[in-house]
Formats: sequence, structure tokens, C-alpha cells
Amino acid sequence: MYDFQQNLSQIQQRINAFMETQFDDIHASGSPLAEAMKYGLLLGGKRIRPFLVYATGSMLGADLNALDHAAAAIESVHAYSLIHDDLPAMDNDELRRGKPTCHIAFDHATAILAGDALQAFAFEIIEKSTALSAQQKLNLVRELSRAAGVRGMCLGQSLDLISEHKQVTLAELEFIHRNKTGALLTAALMMGFICSPHYENHELARRLKRYAEAIGLAFQVQDDILDIEGNQAEIGKTVGADLNLDKSTYPKLLGLDGAKQKAQELYQSAVKNLDEISFDTTALRALAEFIVHRKN
Ligand code: IPE
Ligand code: IPE
Ligand code: MG
Ligand code: MG
Ligand code: MG
Repeated sequence: MYDFQQNLSQIQQRINAFMETQFDDIHASGSPLAEAMKYGLLLGGKRIRPFLVYATGSMLGADLNALDHAAAAIESVHAYSLIHDDLPAMDNDELRRGKPTCHIAFDHATAILAGDALQAFAFEIIEKSTALSAQQKLNLVRELSRAAGVRGMCLGQSLDLISEHKQVTLAELEFIHRNKTGALLTAALMMGFICSPHYENHELARRLKRYAEAIGLAFQVQDDILDIEGNQAEIGKTVGADLNLDKSTYPKLLGLDGAKQKAQELYQSAVKNLDEISFDTTALRALAEFIVHRKN
């Protein structure tokens, strides 16, 4: 019987150990930068993006050593996005993963630089793999760079900030969430796909992408819900942070019940797309379920 929690915890152990080793040849040189990077990358975190890389790659017969590099790269960009998201100029949060945020534990300038360095680190890790072909590395770089920047996460973050204290439409909110959060989650799945021998199967890519886009949006809808209903000890973040900043969120537009219904609809749409895939989608199905039921 497949056990999602067990699978997730195996992946967490594997990716955490692999990411640690990526710091082996980095020396402090009198600067707090490497320590701040490790603080933001290694301490806690559900590792959902690595899960997507490994689950998709394993389903399609990819080499685990290749997946390590792709998973560490996406997690490194994610960690950078969180460090910057918490800065006073953005969400001004003091709690992340149950600990002081990076700019509190270190200082603002170090947190900015740690984010910058983690972003570059991601591409360095992809380049270093000996299990990936040059073409696969190029495809990974394309996928990750697009999802991280002005066509994805950064665009979403920018729109999120200018939508504080504003009434946006549902379509506008969906666009923000698909970019700020959906883009990196979709990239994670596509990176697992790129590491596999099926990386030139465009029809398979399209189907996987539709699943990923649905769970990517669902993930942020649930994040918005947890900002209201979550337990601070469990989510490791300040509850009510979105309300304090008057953020545009799903519960704000649809109410709590409406947001929950939206998450359910997205779950249904995600698993429907998996029905069209002729590989063993058990892990991806379980992940979709986890995303809409998670408590942290
Ligand atoms: C939090 O992401 C930020 C969002 C994109 C909603 P996660 O909920 O994946 O955070 P960690 O990595 O588990 O801490
Ligand atoms: C942030 O969304 C998504 C990112 C790109 C980091 P949130 O601002 O809602 O994430 P949390 O709630 O602080 O983790
Ligand atoms: Mg934010
Ligand atoms: Mg935030
Ligand atoms: Mg949030």
C-alpha cells in the first residue's frame, strides 16, 4: 500500500542530505552569507517542490541522481523567494518555519544577499550534474528561469504587493496566484519530466502541466485558508498575516467556504488530468489530496 507521508519523509531526508553536501566546498571567508543561505534552505520546509520532481521523475523512469540536482535547484529558488517574501519591504514577517525569519536571525542586507545567492546557487547545481545531458540541463535552466522571474514568481509577487488594500477581480487574483506560487510548482513537475527519458513527449508534457497548474493554484488557495484557520505552531508562520496587510486572497474574495470549495474544484480538475496519463500516478494523486487537506 502506498503511504504518502512515508514517501514524503523519504524524499525530505534524501533532498536534505543532498542539499547539505552542496555547501561542502563553500567556506565562510569571514562572511555570514553561507550561514544565512543554509538557514533559509536547510532548516525545515515541507519539500513539496522536491516531492514533485522525484514523484514525476520516478514515475517516468528518471535517474535519481539527476533528480537530486533538479530538486535541489527548485528548492533553492523557493527558499530564496521565501527569504525575500518575508523582508520588511515585502510581507514584513518575523516567523518562518517556526523560527525567526532570515532578516531577523541575521540582518536585512544579509537576507537580501542570501536570497540572491540562493537563486544563483540553483543554476550552479543544475550545471554540476553528471547524470544529465547538456540538452536536459538547458531545458531545466529554461524551465526554472522562466518560472522564477518576470514571467512567473517575481511577477506574481509584484502584483501581490500592489494588490494590498485593493479589490481585485477573481480573474486578477487567479493570475497573481498562478504566478507567485503556481509557476514554481509547475516548474518542479516539469523539471522531473525533463530529467526522464520521455522529455520529448509533448502530449505527456501538456497533460502533466495541466495537473501541475491545478495543484499549483490549489496550493496557494490552501495557503490563504491556513492564514486564517491555521494553527501558528503547526504552520510555523504568523496567523492572520494576510489580514493585517489587507492582502488580496481567496477567502477575502470568496469567503472561507468559497475558498474551500475552490480548492476542492481544483483538486478534482488535477486528478482528472492524471486519468489521461498511462503511468502510475499514485504519488501525484496523493500529493493533490495532501495539498487541499494539509494543515501546514
Ligand atoms: C510557502 O510555501 C509559500 C507559498 C508559496 C505559499 P510552502 O508552504 O511550500 O513552504 P515550506 O517550504 O514548506 O516552508
Ligand atoms: C508567497 O505567498 C509566495 C512566494 C512566492 C514566496 P505568501 O506571502 O502567501 O507566502 P507565505 O504565507 O508568506 O509563506
Ligand atoms: Mg507574500
Ligand atoms: Mg508572505
Ligand atoms: Mg501566505
